Amino acid sequence: MIRFHWKHIAIALAILPFAAVFGAWIGFFNIAASTGHWQITDWFLHFAMRSAVRTYSLAVEPPERLPAEGIQPSAGHFERGCAICHGAPGVPQSPAVQKMLPRPPDLAPVIGTWTDAELFRIVKYGVRFTGMPAWPTQQRDDEVWAMVAFLRVLPRMDARTYGELAMGGEESPAMHANDFEATVADCARCHARDGRGRSALVPIISGQREEYLRASLEAFAEGKRPSGVMELAAVEADRRLWADLARHFASQPRVSTSAAASGDAARGRQIAEFGIPERKVPACLSCHGGSRRNPIYPTLAGQHAEYLKTQLRLFAAGRRGGTPFAHLMERTAKALEEKEIEDLAAYFSSIK
Ligand code: HEC
Ligand code: HEC
Ligand code: HEC
Repeated sequence: MIRFHWKHIAIALAILPFAAVFGAWIGFFNIAASTGHWQITDWFLHFAMRSAVRTYSLAVEPPERLPAEGIQPSAGHFERGCAICHGAPGVPQSPAVQKMLPRPPDLAPVIGTWTDAELFRIVKYGVRFTGMPAWPTQQRDDEVWAMVAFLRVLPRMDARTYGELAMGGEESPAMHANDFEATVADCARCHARDGRGRSALVPIISGQREEYLRASLEAFAEGKRPSGVMELAAVEADRRLWADLARHFASQPRVSTSAAASGDAARGRQIAEFGIPERKVPACLSCHGGSRRNPIYPTLAGQHAEYLKTQLRLFAAGRRGGTPFAHLMERTAKALEEKEIEDLAAYFSSIK
């Protein structure tokens, strides 16, 4: 009978890494992508991925409800940022991607195998060694949850509904388009041609100030205003077109949202006009009202309430960023209570 002594085991274990390096050095392992992984490697990588996602998602706390109003911009983002690998309803995977290893799965049949928290983990952090990228910014969990809301409804979505959500009657987004028409068409997929915003989380940019729009595109592209959705859109739009895009949307007639918002608009108006002196909250209209103000201070009148609330919460959490003037908002937003944020959003969204 062979008897293993612990020393032999220790020596074997100590030698193992050197044997592996030696194997790699003599070219034992075939790293050519053409031959695929050994089945066992493939199985192991996917198994390790599933286990890691399951474990790490335990720390993720899902919101009370998935943000349904985030489905439209997420579909728009999916079309440009995800469909290229995963395909989409009515959009087959490209033959080049079918050769990727591991092959990005068609998502419709697999979404149901993951919980919301697990999908959040995958979309926020990506999957190492597979080409599955992380969300472009790690600052915006709200955007990742919006994408999870979209993924949840994806399996039951037909090609027409998907096309309407992601494209809104425009052509599929041209990559690196450098002419104005194609680029406006790309923006219109989420903002609509007249800039009214196709969801409560996509801001109305028609009639917004030109300087502010232009400076915001720059802030998105340079990561100074974190948004995975807008970073991609701004980077893909030729920088030389930013001024024209800003002029185009600024010159559209200002539309206002028709949706009634929860919150006390009268109280919101009071804060907007007089601030909250005992907490040193300035009157919002001292910067956001009147036409002779600094051109970079944005117009809030008629803006979607959901969008306004999201931005105020982001400012309060120190995650909004923006133009070089954005710091003016942070202290103000931090001093507001959640109820006041709702009241202010109700007031500003109700102005025609
Ligand atoms: C460059 C190609 C690529 C892009 C772009 C990409 N993915 Fe993936 N994705 C993959 C690959 C490859 C896997 C498989 C990972 C594995 O099985 O270990 C994957 C896995 C996933 C999974 C888990 C599915 C499963 O059961 O394996 C989800 C969900 C997912 N991706 C969503 C997205 C979303 C949402 C986007 C866009 C924000 C996106 N992906 C962009 C390549 C990509
Ligand atoms: C996939 C959807 C999508 C596309 C495409 C898109 N946007 Fe946006 N846009 C958004 C969302 C969502 C926001 C809000 C971002 C946030 O929450 O920070 C936004 C915000 C903006 C803002 C900031 C407005 C404000 O009030 O602060 C500007 C400016 C803007 N977009 C311009 C554009 C332009 C120009 C294009 C085309 C080159 C474009 N967007 C393409 C979804 C999109
Ligand atoms: C000292 C001037 C100043 C005051 C006072 C001020 N703001 Fe602002 N606000 C700004 C500036 C500048 C921005 C643009 C930030 C950026 O993107 O760079 C902004 C942006 C915003 C935005 C985001 C708009 C968008 O389209 O994304 C909201 C919402 C907002 N302010 C609400 C308020 C409210 C509510 C108050 C009052 C409680 C207020 N602001 C008071 C200067 C001010």
